[in-house]
Amino acid sequence: YVIGVDLGTSAVKLLLVDQNGDIALEVSKSYPLIQEKNGYSEQDPEVWVEETLAGLKELVQQAPCPASDIEGMSFSGQMHGLVLLDNEKKPLRNAILWNDTRTTKQCRDILHQVGEDRLLAITKNPALEGFTLPKILWVKENEPELYGKASTFVLPKDYLRYRLTGEIAMDYSDAAGTLLLDLSANDWSKEICDAVGINIEICPPLVSSSDQTGVVEAGVAEQTGLRAHTKVFAGGADNACGAIGSGILSDGKTLCSIGTSGVILSYESSRDKDFGGKVHYFNHGAPDAYYTMGVTLAAGDSLRWFKDVYAPQETFEAFAKGVEEVSPGSRGLLFTPYISGERTPHADANIRGSFIGMTHSHTRREFVHAVMEGITFSLNESLEIFRENGKTIDTIVSTGGGAKNEYWLQMQADIFNAEVVKLSSEQGPGVGAAMLAAYGCGWFDTLEGCADEFLTIEKTFSPDKEKVESYKKLFHIYQDVYA
Ligand code: XUL
Repeated sequence: YVIGVDLGTSAVKLLLVDQNGDIALEVSKSYPLIQEKNGYSEQDPEVWVEETLAGLKELVQQAPCPASDIEGMSFSGQMHGLVLLDNEKKPLRNAILWNDTRTTKQCRDILHQVGEDRLLAITKNPALEGFTLPKILWVKENEPELYGKASTFVLPKDYLRYRLTGEIAMDYSDAAGTLLLDLSANDWSKEICDAVGINIEICPPLVSSSDQTGVVEAGVAEQTGLRAHTKVFAGGADNACGAIGSGILSDGKTLCSIGTSGVILSYESSRDKDFGGKVHYFNHGAPDAYYTMGVTLAAGDSLRWFKDVYAPQETFEAFAKGVEEVSPGSRGLLFTPYISGERTPHADANIRGSFIGMTHSHTRREFVHAVMEGITFSLNESLEIFRENGKTIDTIVSTGGGAKNEYWLQMQADIFNAEVVKLSSEQGPGVGAAMLAAYGCGWFDTLEGCADEFLTIEKTFSPDKEKVESYKKLFHIYQDVYA
């Protein structure tokens, strides 16, 4: 067995996976966001550790095997979050998360100091509020005393891994989201560090996602029941792990993932394509591979917000009941999912969401339907960028919470105008983390080989011609709302 730990924004999910790729057990522990001011989003790293340790203990207790049969573990992590550590490797403050947008000024400073062309040439990415470097600069500027004590920084899953093993490391797929990685050199960029005035020494050692980065420490073993010296592998960014766990391992393969955020992601075998910074270009968790990606900041989060406001006690299934009776366009109701700003394609942290076209004849199910459509339209904007840049995308693997509802999967096929594939597990990132552990343990020669064994298609949704035409028109209306 191996364990895949998916350290997400709303919960940590732990999967115990056997050699056939079957999920033998799943444990989930949720935790809150700390959102003290408009645009702020933080979490206490200690809470990640506590909840993960409690989850591991539960997993080991309920496992159908002795702890000695668990050979290794790896991680998928929410990206970009800044965990700043002092010289005893203790967090100096709460982590500032990927969906925190307080750093508009620092993004402008980066563009000015590094130069937009150099930034794009080195990192392949634009300066966005969500990325890590602007967060480092925000702390440097606003909490200088605290910044003075910083000896290194890591990303969320790296901190968790450090607490299990005592070793500090960051893998390339997560490092790519810091805006400090030189994509061509596969190393930290001294040029960027110098230009913005940070010491390159605060950047942690870089490793590959499937590299072993230590073993479970004795104290952790005692606390969780895991075997001391269980192998621990670096793991990767949640989107890179989502790609691995959905078999996005060769050119043209594309993923739609709807969790708290939503992404459309496509495999790239080369780092030389040019999307002009309109979509992100990051290192994959698979060796020598990359992916391009567009992000909707509040995807599942829009639906979660809407449900929490209007029916906090209901399950998502109950909440979504009746949506299948609503036609494309939700009878004139349109939703834009900008409730925490917007990433792709407008990169606007200050825009806010909207419902447009409300009448007194609209009922809750049209609202829910409109939220689902708005999220999917937003993801379609990223897909359009890929297609406009010459990518042919006929099939999309859909994962995350958004893949639990078959009606929504069909809506994705109709809006994306592509076959949408549902796998037998929608746990992309957690499965990807488990696959990195399985590959790291030597169960397979390649990640593709592991994907062949681990992943199965459950159902395919084909676009309905009539709905595709309706949605093309509605999508243009949606696109006009931003302006
Ligand atoms: C990607 C991004 C989000 C987070 C969610 O750039 O910000 O998808 O990775 O954890």
